Amino acid sequence: MKNKFIIAAVETVVFHLLCLYLGYKLFLDPGEARTFFDESRIWIFAIVYGAGTMLLGLHIYVNMVKPIIKAQSELEKAAEESKKAESIRKEFVANVSHELKTPLTSISGFIETLQQGAAEDPEIRTRFIDIIAIETSRLKRLIQDLLVLSDIENRKESADVRAFDIKEAIVKTVQTLEPIAASKDVKLLTDLETQATIFGSPDRFRQMMVNLIENAVKYSDTGGSVWIRTKKEGNRIQVSVRDEGIGIAEEHLDRLFERFYRVDKSRAAKAGGTGLGLSIVKHIAALFNAELKVESKVGEGTIFYVTFER
Ligand SMILES: Nc1ncnc2c1ncn2[C@@H]1O[C@H](COP(=O)(O)OP(=O)(O)OP(=O)(O)O)[C@@H](O)[C@H]1O
Ligand SMILES: [Mg+2]
Repeated sequence: MKNKFIIAAVETVVFHLLCLYLGYKLFLDPGEARTFFDESRIWIFAIVYGAGTMLLGLHIYVNMVKPIIKAQSELEKAAEESKKAESIRKEFVANVSHELKTPLTSISGFIETLQQGAAEDPEIRTRFIDIIAIETSRLKRLIQDLLVLSDIENRKESADVRAFDIKEAIVKTVQTLEPIAASKDVKLLTDLETQATIFGSPDRFRQMMVNLIENAVKYSDTGGSVWIRTKKEGNRIQVSVRDEGIGIAEEHLDRLFERFYRVDKSRAAKAGGTGLGLSIVKHIAALFNAELKVESKVGEGTIFYVTFER
């Protein structure tokens, strides 16, 4: 910008010197015979000076004023974005504090009651200790999920980034989730393309599938089914997880992938969720440059699609 300013100053000075010279030549040069206010010469001078000033002004506008206006609007945009990021951060800290405080308050409450004598009654003691254990494991899950999110956000990629077979990864994941599904009498059904390779971290991929399948089981009715499919579409491969569970109302779909967003807070809390599962799914999909989509109808079920480029 400094250089542009010097160039503009030099241009202005040179232009005016040229105009002075022209004025001298037209009106004052003693070598020429003329009347001092020769009308045609005045016109020539006026046109040259006017056109020159306009061109000079235009040049200064394009080279200096326009970039300044552009930089100013970019600065305003950046300030707005940083304000938005700051408010998201504040909201996140407030949410985390709240989510940590709830189980901790419950744990310390039950411990206090035990200390005040409830421990004498073996039945109450066992019940309270069970509750403390449940709340502790909820805290542990919350912290684990937060660490996973922060790892992904910091792009601390797990070391095992490589080409891997989606089918194999899904089969393994389904096997590990079989007991959870069986405990709710939910069937896990698969329809998988033979051999579909993608590039990335198989661990992260499995983590994403666990979250989607766990949700599908959690929000299905007892005795329901969950379908896990892969489908090749040209050089893309689509993975879908479908359930016939409670479904999600339209108005929630936009915010579903936000951290801590739960459709029905009381129900989800009872089901032991942290509300971070789908946010982790979104981050992992972004890590794979995959497209994430959800379709749902209340009472009919939900289907999540993750589409990978191969
Ligand atoms: N398959 C589904 N069917 C119906 N609702 C769902 C489904 N998957 C997610 N949801 C809704 O989206 C919300 C957010 O899901 P998410 O996985 O992020 O949290 P969560 O299941 O409560 O907690 P976590 O997965 O950490 O146990 C859930 O509370 C639930 O209301
Ligand atoms: Mg979940």
